[in-house]
Amino acid sequence: MEKKFRIFATCDIGSDAVDLLRARGYDVEVYPQPEAPPKKLIVEKVTSGIDGLITTLRDPIDAEIFEAGKNTLKVVAQDAVGFDNINRADANRYKIPFTHTPDVLTEATAEFAFFMMGVLARKMWPAEQLLRDNRWGYWHPYLPFLGDEVTGKTIAVIGTGRIGLALIKKCAGFDMNILCYDPAYENHNYINAIQEEMSLRHGRGISREKNWIKYVPFEDSLRHADFVSIHVPLLRPGESPTPTYHLFNERTLRMMKPTAFLINDSRGPVVDEVALVKALRENWIAGAALDVYEKEPLPPDSPLRDPAIVDRCRLYPHFASAARITRLSTDPNKGMAGRCIQGLIDVLESNYGGDITKMPYVVNKEVFAKS
Ligand code: GLV
Repeated sequence: MEKKFRIFATCDIGSDAVDLLRARGYDVEVYPQPEAPPKKLIVEKVTSGIDGLITTLRDPIDAEIFEAGKNTLKVVAQDAVGFDNINRADANRYKIPFTHTPDVLTEATAEFAFFMMGVLARKMWPAEQLLRDNRWGYWHPYLPFLGDEVTGKTIAVIGTGRIGLALIKKCAGFDMNILCYDPAYENHNYINAIQEEMSLRHGRGISREKNWIKYVPFEDSLRHADFVSIHVPLLRPGESPTPTYHLFNERTLRMMKPTAFLINDSRGPVVDEVALVKALRENWIAGAALDVYEKEPLPPDSPLRDPAIVDRCRLYPHFASAARITRLSTDPNKGMAGRCIQGLIDVLESNYGGDITKMPYVVNKEVFAKS
C-alpha cells in the first residue's frame, strides 16, 4: 500500500484488531488509559492530520472535532452500535462518514437483558447476600423471601429492532407471552414466525400453554406485562417524530403493575431516573435492573444507590455487550473490534468502488447519496 493511513484510537479496541491494522501498514496510536481521553487531546490528534479516528460511546464527537479534521479526517469508526455520542448533523455538515458495529452485539445484549430479568425476579443478589452474611439459618418454604418465576410470564419488549427481536426469540423458549411495542417500525413477519413456533411447541407438547405474541399500543404493553424490557435507541425531542428520551417517566411507570420489573440495557436517558427511584421507593413497581444511566459512569451520589431499594434495584456497569467474542473478535461477522476496523478500512481503502452509500457499516449515508 503506498499511502500509510494514520489512525488515533481513543480506546484500545483489542491488540488483535490493532495488530491487524498495523499489518496493513497503518500507523495506529492508541490512547493508553482506560478512561476517556480529554476532548482537547482528541482535537489535537485530529488537527495533526489523522485519516481515521476510532471512538466509543464516551467520546463526544461534534463540530469541534469535525472542524479540526475539516480537510484531513476521512472517517470516524465507532466501536459500538449506539452512536448518540456522535452529532450526526455536524458529521453531515462536514461530510465526514462515521461507522458503527451493528448486529455483532445483538445476541450478547439480548441475553444480558434476559439474565437481568432472572437475577431480579429470582432475587439472586439478595439470596447470595444472605448466605455471605451468614444469615442462612434454616430452610423454610417461604422465609425469608421468595422470588418470582420468569417461565410462563408476560414480557413487554419495548423496541423491536435487532436486539428486541433477539430477546423475543429467547423469551419464546421460556414459554413467555410477548407484548411488542415499537414507536417506529413493526416487524410483523418476525412476530408471525414466533407465533407459529409457539403454536408448534404447544402442538407437539413442548409447552403446556399455547403462548402468544402481539403488537400493542405502548400503554397496553405496560399495563399487562410482568417484565418490561427496553430496546429502543435514544432519540431526543427534535431528533425524531417519535423521541424516546424519558419514555419511562412518572406517568408511564405508574402504568406498570406493582408486581412488574423494568429492565434497561438500551440507553440511560430513555428512563427518567428520578421518577424510577420514586417508583422503587414507593413500590409502584417490584424492581428494576439497569445497565445504562443518564450519566455514566454512575455518579457516587446517584439516588439509584439508595440502600432502601438495594433489594430490588440491580445496577450493572454498561456491561451488556461485554462478552469476549462480541467485544474483541477481529472477524467482522462476530466481533465489534472486527466490524469497527472493517468500517474504517472500507472508507479509507475505498472498498465498494469508493461508494460510501454501499458500505454496510457507514451510518450517515444520506450525505453521500447522489441527488
Ligand atoms: C453499547 O451500548 C453499544 O452501543 O455498542
